[in-house]
Formats: sequence, structure tokens, C-alpha cells
Amino acid sequence: MAFSTEKSKQAYERTIDVLIEASSSSSRGPATFGKYPIFMERGRGSRIYDVDGNEYIDWMMAFGALPLGHAHPEIVEAIAEAAATGAHFASATPVELEVAETLQSMVPNAERVRFANTGTEAMMAAIRLARGVTGRPKILKFEGHYHGWHDDLLVSSNVMPPSALGLRSDPIKVPDSSGLNRSALDDTIVVPWNDLPALQRAVENHPGQIAAIVSEGIMANMGVIPPAKGYLQGLQDLAKANGILFILDETVTGFRIAPGGCQEYYKLSPDLVTFGKALGCGLPVAALCGRAEVMDALQWGGVLHYGTHNGSRIGMYAARANLRVLTRDNNASFRHTWRIAERLCDGYRDLFQRKGLAVLVQNVGPMFQLMFTEQPAIRDYREFCEFVDRAAFQKFVLSLFPFGVYASPSAALHSIVTLAHTDEDVERTLEAAERALEQSC
Ligand SMILES: Cc1ncc(COP(=O)(O)O)c(C=O)c1O
Repeated sequence: MAFSTEKSKQAYERTIDVLIEASSSSSRGPATFGKYPIFMERGRGSRIYDVDGNEYIDWMMAFGALPLGHAHPEIVEAIAEAAATGAHFASATPVELEVAETLQSMVPNAERVRFANTGTEAMMAAIRLARGVTGRPKILKFEGHYHGWHDDLLVSSNVMPPSALGLRSDPIKVPDSSGLNRSALDDTIVVPWNDLPALQRAVENHPGQIAAIVSEGIMANMGVIPPAKGYLQGLQDLAKANGILFILDETVTGFRIAPGGCQEYYKLSPDLVTFGKALGCGLPVAALCGRAEVMDALQWGGVLHYGTHNGSRIGMYAARANLRVLTRDNNASFRHTWRIAERLCDGYRDLFQRKGLAVLVQNVGPMFQLMFTEQPAIRDYREFCEFVDRAAFQKFVLSLFPFGVYASPSAALHSIVTLAHTDEDVERTLEAAERALEQSC
């Protein structure tokens, strides 16, 4: 039967007068998917099914929120148990304590834990905490890093024409949205990533004013860009030497790169670390963890952090089951995702080479992106903006859909390998890619 997404199209037309961009986030709408997004109906394991009955291997996995894939039986059971006995009490619960203790055992710096719902919220709390504890106003972030959609850091995190960025030595701060509180941005310093001398200069230019340096461990919102060797360690040392807190944003990398995230993988000791996405395995669960000396300022009367849904019982049940599965058999899930990712990335590299196409496959473990570029490597935001052909990537990804492979068509995002993905998924994906390329040539 010919591939059809007619029912998605009809559903999209119904949304036009009610849902903005057919969805609940601007990264899911027609701007990303071309004419209209595919309406998904159900998922199981590595597969996702749309309203037209098409089956896809899902490499998007809810932007990384599903480290075990769709509808993992132990997550389903945990959620059902919590739903049947009280989804949320907004009181202290034993399961919240259990998940916090598990985080303590997995995450090196997690002397204290506070739960939230989203990566954005955890980051907002981290920033307030850093300002409160240091008494300093400014936050330093990096070009191309995204830390959620709150005002303080929503700057220079979208892809821009290189001419809009200004000089590397004095980057133009490009607000990512209208409606931002511009005075909040006055206290935001923007620096190119993977460039230690630039960071050092920025720190020297603001003596005693910077509360925190905020960084992703792996740049995950401009494809996948790893840190240069020793860069994060250098950043950490610089922060420490200047009384600045180091906030490591592990919203993407948490429970994916290693049990203790980039912090463990790159042997870092940040003051604060934020998690989201993978923690709740499909439910909105985020966490702020860190050194007791800093985190204890959240105690009543200090730095305020509220939230009706924080630590919801149903989310905690899901997180507890998720962390159990992820760490089972001496963290076997991490070995699995790294192995599957290497096979898939090697297969893609081989395929593009055989086809004579200039596509760079950049990955760190189970996070990978295909970058349509002649460059041998993409090392930061500026190189991504200048050299990556995003339209070619979008066209390629959309051409995979009829062959049963689903990924985000946004070149600035990335694909995710989960525990549910198999060797067969790798083979079928590579076959699909080969057929899609043959058809488009
Ligand atoms: C690195 C990073 N931090 C924070 C966030 C915000 O998380 P959330 O979408 O859960 O608010 C994201 C979301 O993509 C992210 O990639």
C-alpha cells in the first residue's frame, strides 16, 4: 500500500482554528515538519504508530524523554500502581525519598536533591539559587546552548545567519523571542563555547559580578557537539578560582551518557546540576542536585522554590522504575545504547561515503546527529550556523518517513538511542536510508 499521511493532514486542518501550530510547543509544528506534523497515536518499544496506521522506528523518542522506549512494561506498571493509589499528594512521600537516595548514589555531586517538573524549572531554580548564594547578579551562558524557555537565558540559542552573531571576541546577544524581559538579559553574558581564552576574558571583564557559569556537558541543541579535550575542566577551574558557581545542565545528557551523566563521564564536580527529560521516562520529572552548602539555601526563608506538582507521586513511581531498569545488571542499559549507537553511526558513515555525500555523523554515545556539511567537524555554534545545511537535513529526514523511520527533522536537535532499540532497528534504518537516498537521486 502506498504511504499516506492523509489522516494526519485532516487532523492538522482541524487544529488550525484551535491549536497554535497543531501542538503545544513551537518545536513540533509545521515549521519543523514541512506542511504538517505527523499525528502519532501510540508507541511500543522502539516503534511509534501514526493515525494512518504507519509504523516507524522512532529515533526521536520524545526529545529524549524516553530512555527505555515507549510503554516499557515496568514503567506502565509503576504508573498504574501510583494512579490507582493516588497520583499526587503534595506532601512528603516515601517514594520521593527513595528516588532522591537513588540519585545520590548515581550522581557524584548530589549531596542534596530537589525535584521539579521540567528542565526549564530546574534551571530557573538553579539560577536563583546561584544568585542568592553568591549575592552576584550575572549569569554566563554559551552561544548555542539552550537551557529552557525562561527569560534569563533565552538568548543566542537559535540558529542565526553568521552575520547576525558579531565577532567571536564580542558576540552579539541575540534574543530568541519577543516579549522577553530585556533587563533580565542585561545580566546575561554570552560567550562562544569550547573557547577557554574567550571564557577567561569574559570572567576577567566582570570581576565579582558573575554568580554562575551555565553549560551543557555536550552541546545538544546544535546537533551534537562534544566538548574539546579539557575544556569543561578548564571552565570548572576558572569558575572555582573566581568564586563563581558551575551549573551543569544535564537535561539532555542525564541518564543517557553515563549513570552519573557528563559529570561522571568527564570527571567533573559542578556545584549544581539539573536533570529533566529522561528522568521521568515520559512523565514530567526534573531534578536540581548539588553540593549541600549551596542547595541548603533553598530551605525556607532562603531562596524560594515552589511547585504544586513537584515530586508528584506518579512521576516518582515512574522515575524509580526507570532508574531501576537503567542501572540493572551493572548499568547494562548504558552499554546497550552506546553499542547500538556506534553501529548505527558507523553504518550511516559508510552509507554516506558510498553515496559520495558530504554528511558528518557526529555523536557522543547514544546521542547523534547527521550534519550535512563539507566540514570535517563542527565544534561550536558559529560553525554550525555557518556550515550546516539544515534544509538538506530536513529533506533527508522527511524522505525517511515513507520507509518507516522517524526522527526530528530539525538539524539543531539530534537523535537518541534507547534501551528499546535493537540491532534489527539499526539494519532496517540503514536500509531505509539507502532506499530514500536512491529515490531522491
Ligand atoms: C539542555 C537543555 N536544558 C533545558 C531544557 C529545557 O527542558 P524542558 O523542555 O523540560 O523545560 C532543554 C530542553 O530541550 C535542554 O535541551
